[in-house]
Order: sequence, then C-alpha cells, then structure tokens
Amino acid sequence: MAEAVRSVRTVLVTGGAGFVGSNLVRLLLAERPAWRVVNLDKLSYAGAGGNLDDLADEPRYELVRADVCDAARVFEVFRRVRPQLVFHLAAESHVDRSIHAAAPFLRTNVEGTRVILDAARALGEGVRVLYCSTDEVYGDLGPRGRFTEQSPLCPSSPYAVSKAAGDMLARAYHRTFGLDVVVSRCSNNYGPYQYPEKLIPLMITNALEDRELPVYGDGLNVRDWIHVEDHCRGMLAVAERAAPGAVYNLGGSCEKTNLEVVREILRLTHKPMSLIRFVPDRPGHDRRYAVDASRAERELGWRPAHEFARGLEATVRWYREHQAWWRRLKDEGFRAYYERQYGTAAAGRPAGTG
Ligand code: NAD
Ligand code: TYD
Repeated sequence: MAEAVRSVRTVLVTGGAGFVGSNLVRLLLAERPAWRVVNLDKLSYAGAGGNLDDLADEPRYELVRADVCDAARVFEVFRRVRPQLVFHLAAESHVDRSIHAAAPFLRTNVEGTRVILDAARALGEGVRVLYCSTDEVYGDLGPRGRFTEQSPLCPSSPYAVSKAAGDMLARAYHRTFGLDVVVSRCSNNYGPYQYPEKLIPLMITNALEDRELPVYGDGLNVRDWIHVEDHCRGMLAVAERAAPGAVYNLGGSCEKTNLEVVREILRLTHKPMSLIRFVPDRPGHDRRYAVDASRAERELGWRPAHEFARGLEATVRWYREHQAWWRRLKDEGFRAYYERQYGTAAAGRPAGTG
C-alpha cells in the first residue's frame, strides 16, 4: 500500500455530484468513518440532480462548486484541503453528446485532468490520485475475447478519446514525475442516480412515461454491465491496495445485448414490447465491450456482488420511487437535447398518441 493511503484523513472526489461520484461519496462516508470527503464539482447538467442534498448537514462532507479546468481555483482548493487521496471522476460522460460537440469533452476530460494532476503534484509527496477511466478506451472488441489491461487503447468516439488521453496523461505523470497515480477501467454502470440520457435510465423512465424506447441500429451491440456500487467498491480497492502506477480493469462479467436489456426493462415495468423503436445507429458505434477483471479479483480481492437481474429490478424500483428526481431532470433542456438526438417523433409524445 502506498504511504499516502495508510494515513488518509481527507479524500477529494471530483465529479462527486454525478451518477458514479454520488454513489462513491456515499460509500466512502459509510465505509471509512475516519475520512472527510470533499466533493469538487461544477454541477453541470449531469450534476444538477441534487444527488447529495441530504448530506448538507453531514460534518464529514463538503461540496466545493468549481470547474476542474479552473487551475487557480483547483490549486487553491488542493492547498486548503490537502487531500491524501483524490478520486478523479469529473468528466463529460455521454458518447452521443461528444458526437454532437467534442470540445467540452477535450476541455474537461483532458485539460481538466491535467489541472488535477498538476494540483496533486504541487502538494508534493503524500497524495495518491485515482484516475477513473473506462473500458471504452479499448475501443471495439469484436465477437470474441475480453479486454485485459494489456489490450491496446483504440478509442472510437470523441468521449472515449478524451478518456484515453486522460488515462495516458495520468500514467505519464506517474512515469515522468513520480506522482502516485492508479487507474481503474470499468465497464458500463447502472443503478440509482444515473442521469436519464444513458441507456438504462432512459429506457426505464421512457417506459414509465409510456414513451417509445429508441434502440440504435439492430440492438445487438453488447455491453458488460456492472452495478455502480460494485464499481465504487472496486475503485476503493484500487485506491487502497494497488501499487503506484498500476492499472486495473473492473467489470461485471455480464454481457448483454441492448435488446436483451430493453426487453427486460419492459417486462419489469409491465409495458408492451411494441414501445421499442429502432432508430438510426450511433455513428462509430462500438459493437461489443467485455472486460476481463481477473487481475483485480486476484490481486485486490475485489469482485462484483450484485447480480444483474436483481440489480436491474432494484434499479427499476428506484426510478419508480424517485419520479420527482428524474422528471425534474427531463426538463426543457433535456427535451431540446432529446429532439436533436432522436427526432421530434420520439421526443414529444407518449407512444400511441398520434
Ligand atoms: P455523470 O455525467 O453522471 O457525472 C459527471 C460529473 O462531473 C457531474 O457531477 C458533473 O457536474 C461533473 N463535471 C462535469 N464537468 C465538470 C468540470 N469541468 N468540472 C467539475 N465537475 C465537472 O458521469 P458518470 O457516469 O457518473 O461518470 C463519472 C466518471 O466515471 C467519468 O469519469 C466516467 O468516464 C467514468 N465512468 C463511468 C462509467 C459509467 O458507466 N457511468 C463507466 C466507467 C467509467
Ligand atoms: P450508453 O448508456 O450511452 O453507454 P455507452 O455508449 O457508454 O456504452 O449506451 C449503452 C448502449 O446502448 C450503447 O450500445 C448504445 C445503446 N443506446 C441505444 O441503443 N439507445 C439509446 O437511446 C442510448 C442512449 C444508448
């Protein structure tokens, strides 16, 4: 274990107001009672859900509203807070948005990562940075095999390129400057508090609203699904137990076609299969991802605990019980995005209303 991690008192999470970040902040507060958690987040559209509003009176939690690209502000926060451990999650995260406009992705995911790494370096010894990467950096897998940590990085979308650049930059800071950096590369997450633009929450909320479910292409693209809590526990294991400079894949060993996922959601919401609408494919759409996470299992003793069928059922229940949360996010701004992405026919009306 790295020296910094033995004596953690303060953890800084960037992007802690988003989907994975808010689940991670909750996990850290619950499982590491001696740690103080500072969340540095811009509260972009994806961080505007008030996911951690209930922690306002928690003395071990602090929210700092800041942009990771604002170097002066980030350096000031690092100097004041002096974290021993940084989980760097802040990112533009949606592939489809990166196809419409790549610039915000390169700015936040590459330049923002550079700022975080320089701010950590400026603290000197005693700080570890976990860069939260993704299996998308490996690109399209083809029909056989699984990604290992040795697979070449061959990203397909502007989002994936920006994450790969951040991943490589983080490792370069370890090699070149000796910064204590570790990297996790996780597969597709699902669970509570996921912004309703991503496949699973979009399909659940559209089904609950009796809207059509837009499936790209033939619906046979494969993703490897993992519950967000398993991802967060995996990052904690990497942060606490990995050697400096190490990279670990995290994945659920749960390959599903998008159609399988969407049909299961319709079954769980008791809605008809006729809500499925095939729409034009995403440009550059990777056909298949599958992650070999055996290194993390072997060396860190981590393994996913949530089984997909039950996890998806619980997630559908969560969205059913938290309608105010996602209905507020599916606001005017979201509708404009949706119409551009899917065309007005799918956006405006519930299915079957003409
Ligand atoms: P998200 O979009 O739900 O959350 C991103 C968060 O980052 C938001 O709170 C947003 O306000 C914040 N943010 C965006 N730009 C910022 C900026 N310039 N400065 C400060 N904060 C900013 O995304 P997510 O799904 O929670 O993903 C979080 C991280 O996990 C990302 O780095 C993503 O690449 C990685 N990841 C996600 C998945 C997944 O399936 N969701 C899988 C593997 C890795
Ligand atoms: P997404 O949740 O955007 O994650 P990623 O692209 O990072 O894997 O998409 C998951 C899969 O679902 C991907 O193959 C694209 C597909 N998809 C659809 O078919 N329809 C949709 O409306 C969305 C958002 C995704």
